Amino acid sequence: MDKAAWKKLEADWGRLEAEHLRDLFANDPDRFDKFSVSLDDLTIDFSKERVDDDALVHLFDLARAVNLEKHRDAMFAGEHINSTEDRAVLHVALRGNKSDAYSVDGELTYDLVESVLKDFLKFADDVRSGDITNAKGEAFTDVINIGIGGSDLGPVMATRALSRFAEDGPNVHFVSNVDGAHLRDITDGLSPEKTLFLIASKSFTTQETMINAQAAKEWVENSIGTAAAEVNFAAVSTNLKATQAFGIPSERVFGFWDWVGGRYSLASSIGLSLAIAIGSKNFRDFLAGFRDMDQHFKTAPLEENLPTLLALIGIWRRNIMKCSTVALIPYNQRLENFSSYLQQMDMESNGKRITKDGEPVETLTGPVIWGDSGTNAQHSFFQLIHQGTDIVPMDFMISAQPTSYLVDQHDLLTANFLAQSHALAFGKTSDEVRAEMLAAGSSEKDADALVPHRTFPGNRPSTSIIYRSLTPYSLGRLIALYEHKVFVQGVIWNVNSFDQWGVELGKVMANEITPLLDEGADLSGLNSSTRGLIEKIQALK
Ligand code: F6P
Repeated sequence: MDKAAWKKLEADWGRLEAEHLRDLFANDPDRFDKFSVSLDDLTIDFSKERVDDDALVHLFDLARAVNLEKHRDAMFAGEHINSTEDRAVLHVALRGNKSDAYSVDGELTYDLVESVLKDFLKFADDVRSGDITNAKGEAFTDVINIGIGGSDLGPVMATRALSRFAEDGPNVHFVSNVDGAHLRDITDGLSPEKTLFLIASKSFTTQETMINAQAAKEWVENSIGTAAAEVNFAAVSTNLKATQAFGIPSERVFGFWDWVGGRYSLASSIGLSLAIAIGSKNFRDFLAGFRDMDQHFKTAPLEENLPTLLALIGIWRRNIMKCSTVALIPYNQRLENFSSYLQQMDMESNGKRITKDGEPVETLTGPVIWGDSGTNAQHSFFQLIHQGTDIVPMDFMISAQPTSYLVDQHDLLTANFLAQSHALAFGKTSDEVRAEMLAAGSSEKDADALVPHRTFPGNRPSTSIIYRSLTPYSLGRLIALYEHKVFVQGVIWNVNSFDQWGVELGKVMANEITPLLDEGADLSGLNSSTRGLIEKIQALK
């Protein structure tokens, strides 16, 4: 850990903690120009963060002190930076051009990636056009992706986000939860014959996905007979043995590689459901957006590097201001699942307490990521954000152009997007509240009673991200922006952002507990809480 770099930042906070954003803006009319960066139509405005010139310089010093550029280059070079699993981390190769010459263990990846991409995009277009049919030669009307975590959240988010690009194809649905109600609710009213299932699982062993896949197979078989897996199923997996055992023909299994982590796999064949929804051309535009951000991250100087900047602002919020959460608020209803998707990406990556060297970390690491779409969120949790005791940094985002034909409503949406970051930063002083109340005819007594409640402290940080329009290209670029942000923060915290051992224990325990739910099972080895809960559940069944 580079103590000197951290010390300078702490000294900056010593100066800035007492400063109000109102004063920072008043003292510097160029604050927006100074504290915003753009890449084409994408702009990140961090002028409403509680930083100044010196703090920013010192944040970049920190990035250099941890050799960020060297780590970044190692990732792009296909080195095995996922040290606990001895794997390369090369999701950027999923969206690379031939000229990028990405390679893993001495093997160029482009032809490999392109050949799988061609196959699954052809499959997607053929499902869309009806060239791939059910047993009766009919087009599939519905497609259900069964997967969980990285094999679900990305496709769910992007399919919803890009729904206006989904014309003429089948309806695409998603089932993830092992709660049978999820599969039941989605299949309700659908024709088993005309439904195509995509079993998306990198490992093809994930309990939830396997149980749902089996139930789906039975649902189809009960209707059309035993050839269900051959006709009504396709798979996305790296485990060909298991997909074969399930009965899915190999030409309907689309693979990827161990150098693609689940939460970074949306640009791989895991995106098949999205490709069926939006078609191959749009999917390629989506990849182009990713690639442009990859190239920017790879080549732009740190001071102009958007993911690096976003990451450093996050470091400032987390390690210097000690904020434990970040709320992501897209002002776009179709991005309503964006925060859940980034939640896995960020929290599974940087929710770590041990460094790459196996030692306990000396800094705070990943914050809790959460959020919802604006303006809905304003009417649920913004009260606490404005007046609660915790400071919750916000990432706001909006497209300049509307995504629906109700274009006038977009101005109102935009006004709300702008109003919230303004209110959070500038607040409303007690003098302002009092003057306003008296002008509106309130008595001095009423003003005295209500001023404290109606005062907004302000000085609450937010970053605003704007771009022209929500398209496959801009969505790909936005996702890659956050992927690389997560990477930079992992480098600064010196954690391995690409393993997820923390989810294993619960999985193992669930397997051990399942047989104990049978009547008469021996519960004596369990702790009293788990035993007591099982007994209560048995009694309530
Ligand atoms: O929750 C752990 C995890 O391994 C995630 O990292 C992954 O996205 C998810 O499970 C699903 O895994 P799979 O694609 O192998 O079914």
